[in-house]
Amino acid sequence: MNLKMYLEEKKRKVESQMFNSLSDPSIPARLAESMEYSLRAGGKRLRPVFVMAGAEAVGGLDDEVLDAAVAMEMIHTFSLIHDDLPAMDDDDLRRGKPTNHKIFGEAVAVLAGDALLIEAFFLLTKGFKNPSLLLEVVRDFAAAAGARGMTGGQVLDMESTGKIISEKELNMLHACKTGALIRASVVSGAKLCGAGRDELTALEAYGSKIGLAFQIQDDVLDIEGDEKLLGKDIGSDEGNLKSTYPAIIGLENSKVRAAKLVDEAVSRLSMFGSSADPLREIAKYIIERNM
Ligand code: IPE
Ligand code: IPE
Ligand code: MG
Ligand code: MG
Ligand code: MG
Repeated sequence: MNLKMYLEEKKRKVESQMFNSLSDPSIPARLAESMEYSLRAGGKRLRPVFVMAGAEAVGGLDDEVLDAAVAMEMIHTFSLIHDDLPAMDDDDLRRGKPTNHKIFGEAVAVLAGDALLIEAFFLLTKGFKNPSLLLEVVRDFAAAAGARGMTGGQVLDMESTGKIISEKELNMLHACKTGALIRASVVSGAKLCGAGRDELTALEAYGSKIGLAFQIQDDVLDIEGDEKLLGKDIGSDEGNLKSTYPAIIGLENSKVRAAKLVDEAVSRLSMFGSSADPLREIAKYIIERNM
């Protein structure tokens, strides 16, 4: 398969659905502008791709999971807006553009983040045919985004600032702040398309390993990435004294660890045939990417 074309096609689908869903005149103009600013700024749209690739692995179709895919991208974009705030990472550049608070001010940026998170659930629960599956996915998304997942992980990230923590603690931090949304993306796509228990167990393991590899590569790129390609400030972690993989085990060891996680993730897909090829290819891309 051609991964580049695959990613472009999924990105197109998700963006067209996402931008359609936003044109609602009952949203105050300034808020809509701020939400759209960050959604339209760009981004790889990898979490929505994971939703669709998870669906595909179990024989599902993109259209069955498109609202869930868009919802996940909204949750992710909310997390980025808040992550960049002065009270958090205090970054000026995101997706190649000034961060949301630089344009709209902190108050609107906070509220645009809130609104995107809630809009995600508004969209997710609209018109899905199987209520019991939907309820499960709503719970999965809530757990992944909230105190047990990304939000909790961001607090662990803050608390670990300026400290030497163990690799085990760092794994926990990364699994929450980044792994949870990625794992929920893969699993929910498959769940909404009727995946069986064994399939979900395999995809959960894949998602956990890839989620961790993804954040390790993010930490690596914060050191040796190209700011223009990445579209965000590099050196941010060192400047903020963050506990990252390179800070704890070194840059080269971090790359080795990420590559091992990718191999392990792919090996968890052995029960699937070619329907999981996109997940296999995306796994490799996670550590080869430079943006
Ligand atoms: C960045 O995520 C934040 C992390 C959780 C590491 P991405 O690298 O997926 O950011 P976009 O969506 O492509 O901008
Ligand atoms: C962010 O981790 C994880 C989120 C929950 C947004 P980082 O702080 O390393 O993400 P970037 O590097 O700013 O995208
Ligand atoms: Mg951060
Ligand atoms: Mg950050
Ligand atoms: Mg980072």
